Amino acid sequence: MTFATKYRPRKLSSVWGQKRAVSMARSILAQYAANPEDVPSAVLISGPTGTGKTTLARILAAGLACEDASSSKVERLPCLACDTCAAAFSDSSQDIREIDTANKRGIDDARAIVEQAKYAPRSNRRVFIIDEAHRLTKDAILCFLKALEAPNGQTTFIFCTTEPAALPPEIKNRFIHLKLDPISVDDLSAAIAAVAAKESIKISDADCGKIAEATGGCAREALMALEAVKLSGTVDVDKAIKATVQASPTRLATDWLFGIYSGDLRSSLKTVTQVADAPRFLNEVLRVNAALILEQAGDKDPYMRATAERFKTCWDVIINNAHNVHTRVLAAYETLSGYNPPDSKAVLVGLTWSWPERG
Ligand SMILES: Nc1ncnc2c1ncn2[C@@H]1O[C@H](COP(=O)(O)OP(=O)(O)O)[C@@H](O)[C@H]1O
Ligand SMILES: [Mg+2]
Ligand SMILES: [Zn+2]
Repeated sequence: MTFATKYRPRKLSSVWGQKRAVSMARSILAQYAANPEDVPSAVLISGPTGTGKTTLARILAAGLACEDASSSKVERLPCLACDTCAAAFSDSSQDIREIDTANKRGIDDARAIVEQAKYAPRSNRRVFIIDEAHRLTKDAILCFLKALEAPNGQTTFIFCTTEPAALPPEIKNRFIHLKLDPISVDDLSAAIAAVAAKESIKISDADCGKIAEATGGCAREALMALEAVKLSGTVDVDKAIKATVQASPTRLATDWLFGIYSGDLRSSLKTVTQVADAPRFLNEVLRVNAALILEQAGDKDPYMRATAERFKTCWDVIINNAHNVHTRVLAAYETLSGYNPPDSKAVLVGLTWSWPERG
């Protein structure tokens, strides 16, 4: 079992950082303990990757379905002892379902889920966790919103996303929104040191801090780096970090844009070859670009505003075509490697913005 699996919290009290979101989750469970009928039908959990979205969604789901609901002690939820809790954390629950939008993102998938939601749960509640909800099509989102207009009182939808801005505003109005942040270096470093102690890994506090800092607040990567330290049997933290921690997509996107705008083909090529998650990288490129335009132009210039909006509306297309686009960008670098930087800059910018049409 990897550290990330082994140390996935099952209680709100064991979640690292995320004070605001945890306290909101606690109130939802308190509400439930006080009156099981009185539970939100829709919860949105947003935040960067590896900071606890799925973790929090599962704890909430288990808490809301837990058979120990009669206990008015919130801290007991989820109790982790009943069959419902056991099933919730072993992926075998009939009532708690995780939907992967990588392959279920369309209207038919949404309809099937809404249909299932009509049947009474075996436990206290049925919970659908929809991961990377921003990948849902517009129609699928409308289908969920429609179902939420007449909630049946026994189902909760939990949407998780790294891209809350890509969801329509109706979602943010109708859902209780739990926002996760990158975990602070102090919190993450202390948490990593505690895991190291449990695993009898000899590592200094300074090295735990180094790991926390390198991951930019991503708990999953911090645990992976610590695991690499353990597996290597040496305390070469730099090496472990290099092997496990990906440069954040935002950092790569800004580096890449900087390379292009300054005409430095070599450095921008180096950045692109480091990209591990093409959809997120391209998404960040657009986001950073839109932000740059708005910052430069102020938000009063209508032309610039429209341009920035255009960048934003590209997101959906990007997510669908990212792998494709990434391959094309890499191919373009290959073709361009004989050109001088100013030309390649122009061509690259042109190529990058001519997204394929959808359909
Ligand atoms: N806030 C957190 N507190 C404790 N562990 C965390 C936290 N966030 C992430 N983790 C660790 O990282 C792993 C992946 O977290 P997950 O909740 O799946 O991240 P996300 O869904 O935000 O990408 C978990 O199994 C857990 O070990
Ligand atoms: Mg997740
Ligand atoms: Zn339980």
